[in-house]
Amino acid sequence: MLFRRKKKSGPVKVDDRLTHIAFILDGNGRWAKKRGMPREYGHSEGAQTFKRIVRYCGDIGIKVVTVYAFSTENWSRPKGEVDRIISLLDEYIAGAERELDENKIRYTFLGDKSVFAPGMVERMTRLEEISAHYELRLNIALNYGARAEIVHACRELAESGEEITEESLSSKLYTAGCPDPDLIVRTANERRLSNFLLWQAAYSELYFTPTLWPDMRPEDVDEAVADFYARERRFGGVTSK
Ligand code: FPP
Repeated sequence: MLFRRKKKSGPVKVDDRLTHIAFILDGNGRWAKKRGMPREYGHSEGAQTFKRIVRYCGDIGIKVVTVYAFSTENWSRPKGEVDRIISLLDEYIAGAERELDENKIRYTFLGDKSVFAPGMVERMTRLEEISAHYELRLNIALNYGARAEIVHACRELAESGEEITEESLSSKLYTAGCPDPDLIVRTANERRLSNFLLWQAAYSELYFTPTLWPDMRPEDVDEAVADFYARERRFGGVTSK
């Protein structure tokens, strides 16, 4: 029997139709389980994958990458797993500062930082400040929930007495000043947003792949990008065809 090899799309240089890709990392636990390993092992591997994928997105010309690293709901996981994820993130943040001159990334954290240990909050704040002049922007959603973000923005507007418009509300979100995601990629065969960027995703294209996050490779990003370019975005208008 002949098996047709899955056609690879190859690297694509993106243009200004695709400036922002957001990733919902999923499947770390399943990846580890398939190998008879604890879930924490999947998260360690997922963190390595994350670094490779961010670098690749920069290489193909993406200007903003957002990643859903830890949601407000993720605290309900077993303590050992939560501790491991947080320590991976903290290690990542410390490493990002050391490698800043080499990686040239502007870091922003989306979510309520105040729940983390003071040292970690300090590292996050410092990283945001010292990286603010770089062009490639990486938003890391940490202790993030979109509903809480919208409520927080509404409260700020109510307190300031500012007029409530789409623009004023957007300016109070954690993503203020950042273009909305053009493409949201979710791995591991789950097809939902799970309280991620609900306001900002109004016109985002969604791409779902069965690939488990630790297995995600640059070629999988190429597939998602090629799929994006094959679509017609109408933003509520009519088709041009
Ligand atoms: C989803 O997989 C993954 C998470 C909720 C945690 C993501 C965290 C990391 C990769 C660690 C550090 C990250 C960075 C950015 C350095 P899952 O555990 O829900 O997988 P499952 O659905 O297979 O159980």
